[in-house]
Amino acid sequence: MSQKTVSATWLGHSSFLFTSPEGVRVVVDPFLANNPACPEAFKSLDRADLVLVTHGHYDHVAEAERLAKTGGALVIGIFEVCQWLAQRGVERTSGMNKGGSQVARGIRVTMTQALHSSGFVNEDGSITYLGEAAGFVVEFENGYRLYHAGDTGVFGDMALIGELYAPQTAFLPIGDHFTMGPREAAKACELLKAPQVVPMHFGTFPVLTGTVAALRALVEPKGVRVLELTPGETVQLG
Ligand code: NI
Ligand code: MN
Repeated sequence: MSQKTVSATWLGHSSFLFTSPEGVRVVVDPFLANNPACPEAFKSLDRADLVLVTHGHYDHVAEAERLAKTGGALVIGIFEVCQWLAQRGVERTSGMNKGGSQVARGIRVTMTQALHSSGFVNEDGSITYLGEAAGFVVEFENGYRLYHAGDTGVFGDMALIGELYAPQTAFLPIGDHFTMGPREAAKACELLKAPQVVPMHFGTFPVLTGTVAALRALVEPKGVRVLELTPGETVQLG
């Protein structure tokens, strides 16, 4: 049975499971088993159709390989991340780069800029270069568009993302230290002109100190709706 709207389930940190109107399961930045914010019931999630990876840091790429191998998911990420996963035995990847779009399972995925780094720290401490960090605009079968910023600082060209794709919901990091904090995320909301924001990448670890309350205080007076999710909660987006 297919549903008519896009649903979003927060898996904690920057991990989300989106289910499309046609029932396609899209997991963005899977970080589950070792994610202190991921509910127990989702730690062993193994079924996804598409896995979108914003960059190669562990807290975003952790379960991409497992989901691809056990669930048969197609992994979409920047070229270097996909090449690295392919070398680790992931059979279905579709590497891309910033500014480009591709349609997979009827869902249009556009890769955007992000101000962040991207490298995987190996067990011996060495770092494998994995291209650059990115974000995604995802357009579902019913035309609903969301923007998942990945890890990023605020950048002026978020205005371009707003102009070109007009996302109805923006998923923005607010934890500070490694990404934007609430002040910068509020500026991002202004640039994107998104009517609704879902805060992410906060509270998972003590260093991620940004709060939803701080974001609310800055953006609600300007008419932006803050959709605060609890890990494990599912909401219908539209
Ligand atoms: Ni990162
Ligand atoms: Mn991160």
